[in-house]
Amino acid sequence: MDHDVMRQALSLGRASWRRVRFELARRLRPAVEGRFQPYNHTLPDRYPWLFDFAAAALRDAASPRLLSFGCSHGEEAFSLRRRLPSAVIKGVDIDPANIAACLARSHRSNEARMGFEVGSSARNEPSDHYDAVFCLAVLCHGDLTVSRAQRSEPLMRFQDFERSVVDLARCLKPGGLLFLHTTNFRFCDIIAAEGFDVVLEARPSQMAPDVLFDREGRLMPGERYLPVGFRKRKPPA
Ligand SMILES: C[S@@+](CC[C@H](N)C(=O)[O-])C[C@H]1O[C@@H](n2cnc3c(N)ncnc32)[C@H](O)[C@@H]1O
Repeated sequence: MDHDVMRQALSLGRASWRRVRFELARRLRPAVEGRFQPYNHTLPDRYPWLFDFAAAALRDAASPRLLSFGCSHGEEAFSLRRRLPSAVIKGVDIDPANIAACLARSHRSNEARMGFEVGSSARNEPSDHYDAVFCLAVLCHGDLTVSRAQRSEPLMRFQDFERSVVDLARCLKPGGLLFLHTTNFRFCDIIAAEGFDVVLEARPSQMAPDVLFDREGRLMPGERYLPVGFRKRKPPA
């Protein structure tokens, strides 16, 4: 039993018990180096409005390259496949069990133009390569919202968020699309955002309730950030 947490629970009383329970669960869950969202939750066609937007934007590309970063069991990649049958789709996830599930599924459905790989960042992806990158419900930690954390650390650090997004941005072609949905930090707070234009905003009802933190990791109470789709600017001719 974690004695610090128990002492905290006794001194804070029943009202804070829920927060302490989550703290206990967090400390007992083995941490995986470099992992953001520790939960694998996904759904078939989880963001139809976002996938439809991407498919419409990419309809003229003969064989668009897509990256589903934090693909979990592959629902996101298969939702994209249904909309873009000629796309080449790669899924990356930090959890080898998730990738094993994706590989089994793509094997069952005889998918030649889909690949899945274990990875914790886009560091090794080629530059200027993808037409669209999807990073949905990955750069966040569910416990921050449930525990009503006032600070993002130690679960999430702005610097890690920024580093990951910069890697994702680098491997996008100029003119390519970056989709970030459900994050604990705002894309507009990273310097690289200056090279992107907002092309898609979610409706408030399409957003998860996850809380947002500033660059110093301080909670921004009540803050909602609706931009979710960004186009990488082409360099001037
Ligand atoms: C909540 S699921 C989201 C799945 C899918 N993108 C969706 O929105 O339905 C979060 C996924 O992100 C993965 N993940 C967390 N940190 C990661 C990292 N550093 N690199 C790659 N995947 C990561 C987790 O393993 C998990 O499968």
